[in-house]
Amino acid sequence: MDDLKAKYLGQIAEAADESALEAIRLAAVGKKGEVALKMRELGKMTPEERQVAGPALNALKDEINSALAAKKAALEDAALDARLRTEWLDVTLPSRPQRQGSLHPISQVQEEITAIFAELGFSVAEGPRIDTDWYNFDALNIPGHHPARAEMDTFYMHRAEGDDRPPHVLRTHTSPVQIRAMEKMGAPLRIICPGGVYRADYDQTHTPMFHQVEGLALDKDISMANLKWVLEEFVKSFFEVDDVELRFRASHFPFTEPSAEVDIRCSWQDGTLKIGEGDDWMEILGSGMVHPKVIAAGGIDPEVYQGFAFGIGIDRLAMLKYGIPDLRAFFDSDLRWLRHYGFRSLDVPALHGGLSR
Ligand code: DAH
Repeated sequence: MDDLKAKYLGQIAEAADESALEAIRLAAVGKKGEVALKMRELGKMTPEERQVAGPALNALKDEINSALAAKKAALEDAALDARLRTEWLDVTLPSRPQRQGSLHPISQVQEEITAIFAELGFSVAEGPRIDTDWYNFDALNIPGHHPARAEMDTFYMHRAEGDDRPPHVLRTHTSPVQIRAMEKMGAPLRIICPGGVYRADYDQTHTPMFHQVEGLALDKDISMANLKWVLEEFVKSFFEVDDVELRFRASHFPFTEPSAEVDIRCSWQDGTLKIGEGDDWMEILGSGMVHPKVIAAGGIDPEVYQGFAFGIGIDRLAMLKYGIPDLRAFFDSDLRWLRHYGFRSLDVPALHGGLSR
C-alpha cells in the first residue's frame, strides 16, 4: 500500500495538465483502478486482516482523491495566470483617431437649423417627399395654368393609362408641409420642416435633389416685422456672428403676399466662398406673409389668423458656412470629400455649446 501511495502521489505531483491528471485518477481510484482491485482482495482475507486492510485502503483512496483535487485546482490557477498574461490590455491607450464615419454637412446643418429654431419656439413638422400636385401646387395658390409649375422643373410620377388618381410629384419645395401642418395642428402654429426636395436642374449651384427648410408661424397678430427679426436672429446664430449683411428684395411668390427674397453678402475668390464680405450676393431664402388662400387651404380662417412663411436652401447655407464651393460634390458620395467635410457624429449641435465647434 505504501508503494501504491508513493507511486500515485508522485505521478499526481508531476501531472502536466488536466488530461494527464484524469488518466492518473482512472488508473488509481477509478472503477477498475488499482485501489478497486485491492478492495476486491478484501474478500479473500481473514476477518482480522480485513479489519486492518479495509480502513487502510479507504484512507489511501481518500488521500489520493484529495491530492487529485488539490492538483486540479493548482492546474486551473496556473491556466488562468497564463491566460491573464497573454490577454493583457492597456486601458490607458488613447482611442483610435481614425474616424469610421461622419455626419454629412447637410445633416449637420439641418441639426444646427433645428437647434436655432427650437430656441425660438418652433417645432419640427414632416411631410412626404412624394406628394400630390394639390399639396405641392394648388393648395399653395399655384393653379394648373400658373407659370410657376413650369418654372419649377417638376418631376412627375409615372401614371398608368386610365389611372385617375390625383397626379403625384416629387415635391419641388417643402412648402406643401405648410398645408399638412395646418391641417394637422390648426392655429396658432410655429413649425419648421427640413427635408429633401427635387427639381430637374443641374449645375454648380443646382442638383436634382437638394434640401430646404420651410418655416411657418401663424397667429392673430403676426407681421412682416416678426419675419424680419426671426430671419435676422436665425442668420446671426447660424453663422455665429454679431452681424451679417442681409438684403431683403421685394419679390413674388404665389403663396405669400407681400413676398421678399433674402440674400447674404459674400465673395467668391479662387473658388472659395466667403460670407460677410465681397461684392456678391447669394440668395438663401424666400419669404413673405402667407397668402389668405393658402391659410384657407390649410383649413384655417384667414380672417382670424395671419402669419409669415419662409423657405431656406439648406445646401446653400452649408456651402456658405463651411466654404464648400461646388454643390454637386455634396451628393457624389466621395469618401475623401466626406472625410474632409464631415462632422463627428457625437457632436450634436446646441446653441449653448457653440453650434459647429
Ligand atoms: N417654396 C419656395 C421655393 O422653393 C421658397 C419659399 C418662398 C417658401 C417663400 C416660402 C415662402 O415659405 O414664403 O422656391
